[in-house]
Amino acid sequence: MGERKATARAHPNIALIKYWGNLNHEQRLPANTSLSITLGDLETRTMVFFDDRLKADEIFIDGAPASETASQRVQTHLDRIRRIADIETRASVDSKSTFPSGAGIASSASAFAALTLAAVVACDLQLDPRELSRLARQGSGSASRSMFGGFVVWHAGETDAESYAESIAGKNHWPLVDLIAIVDASHKTVGSSQGHRLAETSPLQNARLADAPRRLAICLQAIMQRDFSALATIVEQDSNMMHAVMMTSNPALLYWSPATIELMKTVTRLRSEGLSICYSIDAGPNVHCICTPEHADAALEELRHVPGVLDVLASRSGDGAEIIET
Ligand code: DP6
Repeated sequence: MGERKATARAHPNIALIKYWGNLNHEQRLPANTSLSITLGDLETRTMVFFDDRLKADEIFIDGAPASETASQRVQTHLDRIRRIADIETRASVDSKSTFPSGAGIASSASAFAALTLAAVVACDLQLDPRELSRLARQGSGSASRSMFGGFVVWHAGETDAESYAESIAGKNHWPLVDLIAIVDASHKTVGSSQGHRLAETSPLQNARLADAPRRLAICLQAIMQRDFSALATIVEQDSNMMHAVMMTSNPALLYWSPATIELMKTVTRLRSEGLSICYSIDAGPNVHCICTPEHADAALEELRHVPGVLDVLASRSGDGAEIIET
């Protein structure tokens, strides 16, 4: 095929209704439908260059050669795309993110969404958005959602064909802001992929899954009606239920640090004082504080001063993955 190059950008997302646990780990068919907001102000840019002269894939992440584990995961994903395109050409991949990876900001979501789109375009495949979302899902579950902008639902499905994401409302429908309070920017010890396997060892996971359709329906309605109070209650309950599963897995996963709990209490206090704000926590100690735009400045000021907070990143809702250069 000679040389073919494409660069894509994609944004991470914050799940309001979380993905935790799979029906099928190899294909990443999730145990429940999830819902997220795409975070437009944070991004990963990935260049994929298929080059016949390369003997092996070369993967760079944030300017340095990728670790063995990360490079294996990227190569496995490139193999999926090579199989569809019916090519053997190796690629050089250069991926850079504007936010710390491995700290519960779902860097795998933006990374695999950008990688999927760039690689597919570089090898001239014609895939529709749903097919792109399914393909990204196999690299990292939450990447299926980062293919789209605004508010995004990833339908769990029971087969590969049924498990894809779609946007249910655009970024301007309700311009919520995510203030991400960073309390630790180092790489987490137990990543999500391992965590999804542990979910089924918790006796609470079945209860969490049985109640998931109810939480999803309430969340969808809150978004459609822009009802912040209903949204806050369900988002915090969904996050707490996922962490209850994590903490009761075998071995147990405890992602929180003392500052995480300080932040949860601060958010609860701020809401009782009249600010429209709620928290959601992924597989890490950092706290996503979701608020309405009119309360973002006041909330940011308060969050910055919580003991243990190193930094607060702010992001509005944004667009799905897109090609920026070919
Ligand atoms: C806690 O998508 O990171 O952020 O498919 O193994 O890459 P892999 O897992 P990943 O899991 C995300 C878990 C979560 C919740 C969520 O984003 O829904």
